[in-house]
Amino acid sequence: MSEMLQIALPKGRLGEKIYKMFAEAGFDCPEILEDTRKLIFENKEAGVCFFWVKPSDVAIYVERGAADIGVVGKDILLEYKPEVFELLDLNVGKCYMAVAGKEGFRDNTENTLRVATKFTNIATDYYRKRGRDIDIIKLNGSIELAPLLNLSDVIVDIVETGTTLRENNLKPLERIIPISARLISNRASYQFKNEAIGKVVKGLRECVEARK
Ligand code: PRP
Repeated sequence: MSEMLQIALPKGRLGEKIYKMFAEAGFDCPEILEDTRKLIFENKEAGVCFFWVKPSDVAIYVERGAADIGVVGKDILLEYKPEVFELLDLNVGKCYMAVAGKEGFRDNTENTLRVATKFTNIATDYYRKRGRDIDIIKLNGSIELAPLLNLSDVIVDIVETGTTLRENNLKPLERIIPISARLISNRASYQFKNEAIGKVVKGLRECVEARK
């Protein structure tokens, strides 16, 4: 096991924001913000090693111990239920999971509701709790197209600013759950690197509080 704390960050705009929170918390690595295609960055003195991974892959790295800790959207935790510890709500990347459909859509409960989504487990749980029969249509992107082309009646997807829905003449119909970025830990690392992880949690918590 590496001495350094291995940290998986989600590649992209949100990841850069999150890196800045780590830097503020005392775990910086300035090289990370340079325009480079490098994926791994170390700060030996601070004892941290960051790497960029696809946002939806962060939980896989952490669950399998390739990363000790990482940052992932609550949507991924709810959808895939990885065996990790959720340590802290970072209060960034805020959005919500919603049911959306065409303006004026009315659910006719005599028919099975056709639901297009990337988040099949979240959608299935949501409708099961309501006793509503659905037909899940798993898509991988551009979910908003589905009701427009009558592939589905509604979609279950993430809404942040609402722009994508608006520009496609869709409306949020029901809010399912709020989403934000969460700090997660590998279960064994949490035990064996408890002190180092504790310092990161403390630093990030202060940073979250200071931004409120
Ligand atoms: C998400 C989501 C919506 C969009 C919502 O897609 O699937 O399409 O963001 O954001 P808005 O409310 O601010 O318009 P994302 O950009 O993450 O890409 P994806 O299609 O790969 O999921």
